[in-house]
Amino acid sequence: MTLSRLEIIRPDDWHLHLRDGDALASVIGHTARQFARAIVMPNLKPPVTTVAQAEDYRRRILASLPAGSRFQPLMTLYLTETTPPAEIVRAKASDSVVAVKYYPAGATTNSQSGVRELSHVYPVLEAMEKHDLPLLLHGEVTDPDIDIFDRERVFIERHLMPLREKFPALRMVLEHITTHDAVQFVHAAPTHVAATITAHHLLLNRNALFEGGMRPHNYCAPILKRETHRAALLQAATSGDPHFFLGTDSAPHPREAKETDCGCAGLYTAHAALELYAEAFDQAGRLDKLEAFASFHGPDFYRLPRNADRIVLERTPWIVPEEYPLAGSTCKPMRAGESVAWSVVDTAIA
Ligand code: DOR
Ligand code: ZN
Repeated sequence: MTLSRLEIIRPDDWHLHLRDGDALASVIGHTARQFARAIVMPNLKPPVTTVAQAEDYRRRILASLPAGSRFQPLMTLYLTETTPPAEIVRAKASDSVVAVKYYPAGATTNSQSGVRELSHVYPVLEAMEKHDLPLLLHGEVTDPDIDIFDRERVFIERHLMPLREKFPALRMVLEHITTHDAVQFVHAAPTHVAATITAHHLLLNRNALFEGGMRPHNYCAPILKRETHRAALLQAATSGDPHFFLGTDSAPHPREAKETDCGCAGLYTAHAALELYAEAFDQAGRLDKLEAFASFHGPDFYRLPRNADRIVLERTPWIVPEEYPLAGSTCKPMRAGESVAWSVVDTAIA
């Protein structure tokens, strides 16, 4: 039987880029419309490295929300080689910071202040393990000798496996996974090691980078992989395995920063996030598993209450606008000018 309506507990986005200032004001409404909470990435310029900065950023996000919104930003700290272990104690004691983000230096947008050598942050990781603060990993090596399509697999072998041995109780999320190798690693780990999966990595393979020509709007980090990897991600997301949950990695960039000589990484998906996930789950014939992936596994991992209110999706296609405003510019969203098969119709069912 083809389902045409789906009612689920309101989801959360466990990996999101909201930016700051006018860009934040441009994009926040899309996320707040469907998600109750989101883990907000700290890769601003300059990065959010202290609890005090995270609290200021949180206030700016709350001030940008549409009137009446109950959306809650969950804040993260950007791990640097100079982060003091005392900051972890402050983060744990705060009401706003829920995790710490590891970027390998040079891996992606605003990652220059990231970590060059993991052993340099061992004292901080020790404090995180002790105080039970999750580590969110951008799991890619940046070694120029490694093929870009192998960056995630090599990170798992070189860094993640040793990290698991050294800090066995450290809670970790391997963010935006893109490979069969990551699926296998996380699936075999205890449930305090988890992974987020984006809608774009569930729906696109690397052919989307070159469909009829170069497609800068499909360029993201980690880069799209071959079809066998996409299929492994879809299988994992729709399996009901609590290790895997929703994280859009929606990452807005102004059009001119994507369509240029050296374009930025990131797809903007917040405008149709849950609808795109519904399409992917529908393709797999597993719409029945969407609620657990989108609304249960994330809060269970973070030890936060599941949401109580509900959201309704209908199989009603709509055409995505060619662009959305982004600060003084525009942003070309995923599926621009094309159809999305599902619509969120009612976002306020108690
Ligand atoms: O594609 C990406 N865009 N990957 C990231 O890790 C960062 C993000 C961004 O901030 O633009
Ligand atoms: Zn990200």
